[in-house]
Amino acid sequence: MKRVLFVCLGNICRSPAAEAIMKAKLRQLGKENEFVVDSAGTYGGHAGALPDERMRERASRRGYVVDSRSRAFYPSADFPGFDLIIGMDNQNVTDLKRLALHADERNKIVRMMDFFPGETPYREVPDPYYEGTDGFELVLDLLEKAIDGLLEHLGMK
Ligand code: 4NP
Repeated sequence: MKRVLFVCLGNICRSPAAEAIMKAKLRQLGKENEFVVDSAGTYGGHAGALPDERMRERASRRGYVVDSRSRAFYPSADFPGFDLIIGMDNQNVTDLKRLALHADERNKIVRMMDFFPGETPYREVPDPYYEGTDGFELVLDLLEKAIDGLLEHLGMK
């Protein structure tokens, strides 16, 4: 069993989309039972909320159901609970590393775009919260490819 946690700031835009895309791709591969996939936010202020309506709408056009409720990242549960903790942007990774107490916790933290296969000017999945529709489409484009790279890294493709 492999356990993967996607982390962004609010857990209402990027990381719930990553969770939904990862689950959909695993389902297509028939590997969903081999993984635990979840998402969380370094900022817990949206806890309990459904994902941002703009993300839900743009993702649903691509066939993804983005419907996990927001929750905060909990260091004491999530560091032992997951093998790979994937930050969407550099600030997320910095915040997660600050919460890690030991090297074995720190070593679980990686950056989503490090899995992106091929050329791209983007080194982070940009925060779409204050952006228009294009920002959400860009996040979905980046996540679909980066998660393909992640699946390859995990030996699933
Ligand atoms: P996310 O987007 O980190 O991708 O979920 C954001 C959601 C909420 C806020 C910022 C980013 N916020 O400032 O409330």
